[in-house]
Amino acid sequence: MNKVLKIGHRGANGYEPENTLISFEKAIQMGADGIELDVHLSLDGHLIVIHDETIDRTTNGKGVVNQLTLQEVKSFRINDEQEIPTLEEVLDLVNRRCFVNIELKNQDTAEKVVQLIEHYILDKNWNHAHFLVSSFDWNALQQVRFLNENIRIGVLTETDLDLAISFARFLKAEALHPDFQLLTNEYTTKIQEKGIQVFPWTVNEREDIQRMKSFKVNGIITDFLDRI
Ligand code: G3P
Ligand code: CA
Repeated sequence: MNKVLKIGHRGANGYEPENTLISFEKAIQMGADGIELDVHLSLDGHLIVIHDETIDRTTNGKGVVNQLTLQEVKSFRINDEQEIPTLEEVLDLVNRRCFVNIELKNQDTAEKVVQLIEHYILDKNWNHAHFLVSSFDWNALQQVRFLNENIRIGVLTETDLDLAISFARFLKAEALHPDFQLLTNEYTTKIQEKGIQVFPWTVNEREDIQRMKSFKVNGIITDFLDRI
């Protein structure tokens, strides 16, 4: 039986503050095959690893990420000690120990992410298997595909699996990332028969993890890597 890939949601979100370097390191130490993270663009064009549009929920500051410079972003703290990382800082920490699922939170990030991936592949000995770019914003994914035909793409959906399958085929996507509650055994087979991998999110309860495994999904995005 093929192994199910363990993908750490926002790092090791069940154990460390989300989208921080310690969270990503913890995920790797827990045996992650991949880590998932979220990116926004700062005012001065840097790729910032954070889930929300604002820094309000996760840091001691307030503000909208795309209205803050990198220097301003770096002046705030998560849990009094952690900085908000840039995507480059995360990639340098990971250093090819697992793959990185970069979720584009909006279209503004697409071009910069493609450029960064190309830089790591050309100059730092990474390869395409180390990256998977996903988004709910399908225009952003289309932009990624337009800019680079080889980057592995994951189509995120929380609504319509059939539409997502059509779009994934159109885009020559590597994977489809459904809300796990949408997924059935039949859909898993249907997607895989089209040569597309299935990575449901965010699967945290043990019984849900077992159900996803019984469908033979290719990977599971979870806050609790040790439950897989
Ligand atoms: O990439 C899967 C999952 O992270 C999507 O939802 O809100 O946690 O970014 P969210
Ligand atoms: Ca995400």
